[in-house]
Amino acid sequence: MQIHETIAGLRAALKGGTALVPTMGNLHEGHIALMRQAGKLSDSVVATIFVNRLQFRPTDDFEKYPRTFEVDCEKLEAAGVSHLFAPSEAEMYPQPQQYHVEPPPSQAGILDGEFRPGHFRGVATVVLKLFNIVAPQFALFGKKDYQQLMVIRNMVRELNLTVEIVAGETVRAADGLALSSRNGYLSPAERAEAPRLQRELARVRHALLAGERDFARIEQQAMTALRDSGWSPNYVAVRNKVDLQCAAAHDSELVVLGAALLGSTRLIDNLEV
Ligand code: PAF
Repeated sequence: MQIHETIAGLRAALKGGTALVPTMGNLHEGHIALMRQAGKLSDSVVATIFVNRLQFRPTDDFEKYPRTFEVDCEKLEAAGVSHLFAPSEAEMYPQPQQYHVEPPPSQAGILDGEFRPGHFRGVATVVLKLFNIVAPQFALFGKKDYQQLMVIRNMVRELNLTVEIVAGETVRAADGLALSSRNGYLSPAERAEAPRLQRELARVRHALLAGERDFARIEQQAMTALRDSGWSPNYVAVRNKVDLQCAAAHDSELVVLGAALLGSTRLIDNLEV
C-alpha cells in the first residue's frame, strides 16, 4: 500500500477508475467491509484517513476522537487497499475554508442535523474536496450513517458530479450493536447496555411490518423504553427511506432511525423496513 500525505503525491500516483473509501480512521470491521466492497469495484482502492474538524462543533469530541494510524495501516494493508491518503490539516485546509457546501435545512437540519448544527455542511464540504482530489469513479459510504449517505447522494446529483455512490451495509457485533469508532468510549457496563438501541429500533420495525401506522406512538414507545433504561434519546423516527422526510401512512419505503446518549457517548443506528 502506498501512503500519501500530499494531494500532489496522491494525484501523481493515481491512474483513474478508482474506488474511494473516506474515513476518519480508527478503523473497524465496518470500514474494512467497505474496503473489500471497493476492491470488487476497482483494482485501485483509495482509503482516506482525515479527522475533519469542519464537521465537529466546539463541544464535540474532535480532540479526543481516537487516532490509531499504525494499526489502521496494518488493517488497510491486510484488506488489499492500494493507496492511503492521510493528509495533515494544513494540506486539506491550507487556509481557513471559506467556501462550503451548504446542504438544505430540509436534509441537513433534521434528525442528526437538528442535534449537530453544521455537521452535514462540514461533511459535504470535505467529501466534495476528497472527490475533487481523488476524482474517483466510485465512492463508498456505510448505511450506518444513513443521513450522511442521503446528503452525499443528493449533493452528487444536484452538483452533477460523475462519481457513483455505493452504499455498504451496517456491520454489527454479535449482540447487534452497530460497529462505530465511538463504541470505544463506552465503559464495560455501557457496552453491555448499548445493543438496546438496535433492539428498540427492531421493535419499531417489527410493528411497522405488522401494519402499524401510528408512527408517533411507536416512536414514543421506543424513546420511553430507552429513557427507562437510563438513556437520553435525541430521536427515534420513522422516515421515508429516500429523502428521510416524515413518512406518510401509505409509504412502503421506510427506515427507522435513532440517536441517543448513553452516558456521554452519542450512538446512532437505523434499520431499513
Ligand atoms: O463517515 C465519516 O467517517 C466521515 O463523516 C467522512 C465521510 C469520512 C467525512 O469526514
